[in-house]
Amino acid sequence: MILKDIKRGDTVLEARGITKRFPGVVANDHIDFGIKAGEIHAILGENGAGKTTLMKILFGLVQPDEGEIYVHGEKVNFRSPLDAIHFGIGMVHQNRKLIPAHTVIENIILGHPKSGNILNLKRTGEEITELCDKYGFNIDLKAKVWQLSEGEKQVVEILKALYRGAKILILDEPTSALAPPETKKLLASIKIMTGDELAIIPFITHKLPIVLTVSERVTVLRRGKVTARLKTADATESNLAKEMVGREVIFRLERVEVGKGKPILQVENLSALNDKRVLALKGVSFSVHEGEIFGIAGVSGNGQQVLAEVLAGLRKAVGGKVLTDGINITHYTSLERWQKGIGYIPSERIDVGSIGDFSLVDNVFMNYYFDDEFSKWGIIDSKKIRKLTKEIISEYAVAAPSSDITAKSLSGGNLQKLILARVLSRKPRLIIANLPTQGLDVGATEFVQNKLMEAKKERAGILLISEDLDEILSLSDRVAPIYEGEFMGILPGEQATRENVGAMMAGLK
Ligand SMILES: Nc1ncnc2c1ncn2[C@@H]1O[C@H](COP(=O)(O)OP(=O)(O)OP(=O)(O)O)[C@@H](O)[C@H]1O
Ligand SMILES: [Mg+2]
Repeated sequence: MILKDIKRGDTVLEARGITKRFPGVVANDHIDFGIKAGEIHAILGENGAGKTTLMKILFGLVQPDEGEIYVHGEKVNFRSPLDAIHFGIGMVHQNRKLIPAHTVIENIILGHPKSGNILNLKRTGEEITELCDKYGFNIDLKAKVWQLSEGEKQVVEILKALYRGAKILILDEPTSALAPPETKKLLASIKIMTGDELAIIPFITHKLPIVLTVSERVTVLRRGKVTARLKTADATESNLAKEMVGREVIFRLERVEVGKGKPILQVENLSALNDKRVLALKGVSFSVHEGEIFGIAGVSGNGQQVLAEVLAGLRKAVGGKVLTDGINITHYTSLERWQKGIGYIPSERIDVGSIGDFSLVDNVFMNYYFDDEFSKWGIIDSKKIRKLTKEIISEYAVAAPSSDITAKSLSGGNLQKLILARVLSRKPRLIIANLPTQGLDVGATEFVQNKLMEAKKERAGILLISEDLDEILSLSDRVAPIYEGEFMGILPGEQATRENVGAMMAGLK
């Protein structure tokens, strides 16, 4: 049966006793869970709690070992996502699944041209435009996906599901890669959808204020089990965090003054092009000192990514200079920069930060192979690298049954923790941290922010790039709001308030 006459409040999807085991972990442990039409049902849980696994099971991507799924009271057996789509279920994945070289419209209809064998792009375009108008999405259907911002890509994924007739929409961390204004827009759109009796399951692992404002109901998972079921009206930020993590969580970090030392990084008039070969970084100048966190605040797409890549040696500068300890490193390779003690935490944990098919040990080794201590005369000291991997996995609480599993079998947040652990364990003198807490749960976020603070106390210089204004304001000694490739100013921490940094990020000098 396909969902037809749905009324608000009907239970449209139910999971009973869902259990899924992977080698060494029970990802889902007898989960019971139901969602209702017209409701936004948030699923919370620490990194590795089993959220993505559960959703993949509901979407037919992963088969459960035990348990049953009911759609509108009817027991179903999903062999693949095609079956789930047939029952009106759509899913937007944590790791986007779009084809960059294709247009928006091509991506939406890929695998599902409604017009049968004859492709009527004009009609299809009209249908999609109608969906956009209805839900307040604003997107150029003819643009190529690689030209889109993260928020726009998210919209394409949602349109793709809606175009297939989804009545139950599963959104896996829909906002973790979005800037605040994009998040706001997206949330407004999903609110409109619930007016159409769509049932929506988003999980927003660490942005608890969002959960509190958009959802009607919350289910909390911990280590594969449901630990709480609440009406959002009865929830608070601190009790949700406590249910997730199993302990109290501090939300605000105290900035410690360590007295900044000499400059480690000096950037002079640096310019660079983006992938579209457009000037995206327009002559920025700043320095980062020992014992200082220098925060760059900005909405994504304003040049901060380009800046991070130039500093990491992954993108060429077209003008200006980069110096560390007074030495011009503008043309150094990324390996040479690592050897000078510059550590890079990339924002793209899958494409740049890790190799999915490599083991955790080999992924850690990627930041150590150039050290005599770990590899000499072409011979790798695998015992040593294995020991180090085990140590940092335990220190950073990366949930993994063994260090020989592949990186791609880690949950999103745990992969992020592995990358952070690998970089920070080298104790770099300069850390370029690009969205370091993206996708991390509240406990892990607190842990990583403390680690950055510790590095600062040990007199490292830290360049922190983040879209999370709270993170920037609570950690940074100085804040540079970036807008269209330029700094709108550089503010001392005491002067950086939500209001003035927010205004400068929007282009006010
Ligand atoms: N294909 C797989 N092979 C082996 N283990 C897996 C696989 N997929 C998931 N796991 C494990 O199952 C557990 C739950 O992972 P899952 O991705 O569901 O977590 P999550 O709650 O979505 O976490 P995050 O917030 O970090 O995205 C983790 O321990 C993970 O390593
Ligand atoms: Mg996940």
